[in-house]
Amino acid sequence: MTVRMLHLLGSPVLRQQATPVRAVDDDVRRLVDDLFETMRAAKGVGLAANQIGVAKRVAVVDVGEEDPPPLVLINPLIVERSPDHETAEEGCLSIPDTFGDVERPSRVVVDALDRDGKPFRAEAVGYKARAIQHEIDHLDGILFLDHLSAVKRALLLSKWKKSRKGEKGYLKEVTPEPAGEL
Ligand code: NI
Repeated sequence: MTVRMLHLLGSPVLRQQATPVRAVDDDVRRLVDDLFETMRAAKGVGLAANQIGVAKRVAVVDVGEEDPPPLVLINPLIVERSPDHETAEEGCLSIPDTFGDVERPSRVVVDALDRDGKPFRAEAVGYKARAIQHEIDHLDGILFLDHLSAVKRALLLSKWKKSRKGEKGYLKEVTPEPAGEL
């Protein structure tokens, strides 16, 4: 297992539509393990393959003790969304120190393949449902910023650009982040 470099906002792979995994082989399992390793090193609660530069439909979610087990999501598809929505603050390991309130369905049902390539269905509510939706968004090239109002997004983007002044490229070594970023 390897802690991989994180791709930050501005890296084109974050805007790429990830391609479905054709077979869950050793390469895919290694990708899953690297995602977990990188997510944990960064103290995140979820990570999508785009975020480590791989445009494949693979993501992991682990919101910890309060809602186990951790999920491996290969070729995930949300098959049900609750009509009721919830608004809560989100961040993203690819956009450090940037947070915004995002409204999402409070409950989802997701179909996916696990680390062994076995299909499963999982239901999640609350924070875990939010994390699943955030990660699946990544696989479609969508960032939480896209869910904000134009005004809020512009504000966060200008702060982000200021904070990145003088930085070269869009890769970041993983260093401990505040807990709770997706
Ligand atoms: Ni994210």
